[in-house]
Amino acid sequence: MLTFNDPAKLQQWARLRRMKGEKIALVPTMGYLHEGHLSLIAAAKKKGAKQIVVSVFVNPVQFGPGEDYEKYPRDEKADFAKCRKAGATAIFLPSPRMMYMDDHSVYVNEESLSTGLCGARRPGHFRGVCTVLAKLFNIVNPHFAVFGQKDYQQVQVVKRMVRDLNFGIEIAVAPIVREESGLAMSSRNTYLSPVEQQNALAIYGALKMVRAKVRKVGKLPAATVRRQIAQFLAKNSLKPDYVEAVDAETLQPVEAIKKGVVVLIAAYSGKTRLIDNIII
Ligand code: PAF
Repeated sequence: MLTFNDPAKLQQWARLRRMKGEKIALVPTMGYLHEGHLSLIAAAKKKGAKQIVVSVFVNPVQFGPGEDYEKYPRDEKADFAKCRKAGATAIFLPSPRMMYMDDHSVYVNEESLSTGLCGARRPGHFRGVCTVLAKLFNIVNPHFAVFGQKDYQQVQVVKRMVRDLNFGIEIAVAPIVREESGLAMSSRNTYLSPVEQQNALAIYGALKMVRAKVRKVGKLPAATVRRQIAQFLAKNSLKPDYVEAVDAETLQPVEAIKKGVVVLIAAYSGKTRLIDNIII
């Protein structure tokens, strides 16, 4: 597995691989890799990529003031070993200074899908995500990039960016990977105490309950369900940030929860903000 720190060197290498006709996949991550990330590498392999580039970069511009940029978990050595074992062919480990020069002044902003849900609670977050991904897409110029469904809004925003800015890159989406307990895997799970972890199970519990009910009765009023879920989360010592039911593509709130609708939850377990979703 090759290691790159310098964007220009990676760009040069990727260009050569492409000229040789090799299929290139990008798996963008912020590191501290878990089974969820490894499933993205597996998905890239399954889709026939000859070169799988995993970027490991805790992107400062997608964190707001007071968020966990400084304390976000990092372990480059372990990430390297996991990527190699999973079959990645290159790892990109740039420093923040290599990605953002002191006078960096160009950002990418998606202005519709990013305004609600996490975007409303984390101002500037998706501007940071789009900016770093535009850079990574330009550096690697992959045939496709793989993202996890756990970040449902992110996937829709990235698809829109790729469409509107003509990146010509396919966005592949891999299903959410869960702990045996049902908790969606996340690097931030490492912040949770055993009790907070136990409480956090209510998030997927609530999503599963909604899906089961809709399967039985066909559709449910979104306002009532959102209120019930918020109560259920609070009963389990979680602080809901949002509970929403939205159209899968426009991300606009819906009145009825039925097949195809996405139900999304963001909630705090202790001080840790967790997100999860289900496509009904
Ligand atoms: O989902 C993430 O880990 C990040 O938002 C991403 C896509 C790697 C951009 O920094």
